[in-house]
Order: sequence, then structure tokens, then C-alpha cells
Amino acid sequence: MFLNIIHSMSVHKEIKRITTNTLHEFKQSGVKISMLTAYDFSMARILDSAGIDVLLVGDSASNVMAGHETTLPITLDQMIYHASSVVRGVNRALVVVDLPFGNYQGNSRLALESAIRIMKEAGAHAVKLEGGSEIRESIERILTAGIPVMGHLGLTPQSIYKFGTYTVRAKEEAEANKLIEDAILLEKIGCFALVLEKIPAQLATRVAEKLHIPVIGIGAGGGVDGQVLVSHDMLGITKEFKPRFLRTYLNLYDGIQNAVRQYVDDVKSNNFPNADEQY
Ligand code: KIV
Repeated sequence: MFLNIIHSMSVHKEIKRITTNTLHEFKQSGVKISMLTAYDFSMARILDSAGIDVLLVGDSASNVMAGHETTLPITLDQMIYHASSVVRGVNRALVVVDLPFGNYQGNSRLALESAIRIMKEAGAHAVKLEGGSEIRESIERILTAGIPVMGHLGLTPQSIYKFGTYTVRAKEEAEANKLIEDAILLEKIGCFALVLEKIPAQLATRVAEKLHIPVIGIGAGGGVDGQVLVSHDMLGITKEFKPRFLRTYLNLYDGIQNAVRQYVDDVKSNNFPNADEQY
């Protein structure tokens, strides 16, 4: 009985959930934050069991799950479907969900309603919005409902038609200064963390040093408080996307293709199923 209690206490300790407070503690103690995207139950379960701190249900689902060219087409209902699948696969990680394009720009009431649906219907833990001062009202309104908000500055893919390309942002002084001002504003109004995408490493380091909230980079160098990648990219499921900042840890595209080729061969040659694989 006593041993059982000790065992259940240690198991409980092992799966202590990551919260926004944990991320702040990580920043204060210099522990780097690991974050990856996830869009479905099975992948979320693997990433969570491997010790990832934050799972982002990114609107990059529009690209890697649905095959769209940009993140713009994905809908709130689709994001909720992906997010609820991820939440069911997670014991430890903090689950952050992107508000999709069109659900918060210029309409703070819609922003709040969308964020509430994500929290209520998907069981997510926080939302992420792209942009700075232009979306201040939406962020503030979501925060009034007690919903944690993660900011996102630099290359913000929902604005791709304004930028025209996916090249590095904030290389010029004016854009860098606006990014720093926006980062300070997002911290001031209550965001719990900030993603910086594809900006010069020196600028990202400066922002991370200035802010008290964790700054998580993607293509923003090593001087920030954590890193995020799209899981399909780092696992080598996507083939064409090879930006300089991406490290691929696996070649799943070729691995899966080879396995399927073998399966096709086995079926065609009547090598599958064998005597042990039937009733
Ligand atoms: O949607 C996404 O995957 C993202 C990450 C690239 C940060 O926003």
C-alpha cells in the first residue's frame, strides 16, 4: 500500500503539467523551452511522451495537413478539430492554438468569441495571435476572459500577401524598431510569451534580453528562450521546404515511401499476409 502511494506520487510528479508559470520559471532559471507543432492525436501523443514543453496547433495545418499554399484558408472549425485531437493526446505539454486569419483582425468581439470556442470546444490551454499594436484590442479583450495569449512577431505568415515573400523580416532599422516596440507592448498588455519568426539573430536576442516573458524563436537564432519548428519539417515529412534555420532530424518522407513500396510489392507478390498473419 505504502509502495503504491509512493509509486503513484512519482508517476504524478513525472507528468506534472507545463503551465504558463512553468515557462516563466524556465526563462528565469535559463532553461530553454522546446516547442513543436502538432495537429493530430497520434503525433501529439508521441511528441508529448518525448518531453516536448509546448505543442502548437499552428495554422500551418493549412499547409502541411490540407495542402494549401498559405495559412489563410484554414477555418476556426478546422482549427478546433485539430486542437481537440491534440489535446486528447497530451498529458504534460502546454497546448497553444493559433487563431485563424480573419477571426481577430479588426473585430475584438469575434476574437474573444473565437478564443472562447477554442478553449471550450478543444480544451486548449492558450491561444496565439499574429501581430502587434494593430491587434491590441483583440488581445486585451481575450485576456479579460482569463485566456492566456502568446504573441507572434517578425515573419507573420497570415500577412504574406502584404510582405510578398517569406524572406527574413526586420532587417531594416524602421521595421526592427517597430518590432521592438510591439514586443514591449505585447508584454505590457499581458501576453505570457512571444514567438519571433525569421528575423536577424541579434535583434531576437535583444528582444529576449529586454522582455521578462519567454521569447521563442523560429529562424531567430540561439539567443532566445526557446525554439519552435513545424514537426513535419523537422521530421522530414515535407520535402520541398528547406530554409536555412531548419534542422531535419529524420527523413520520414523517404522512410514512409520505402515502407509503402515494400508493402505494395508484398501484396502484389502474395508475400503478405503470410501463414502467421491470418486466422
Ligand atoms: O503555424 C505555425 O506553425 C506557426 C509556427 C511557425 C510558429 O505559427
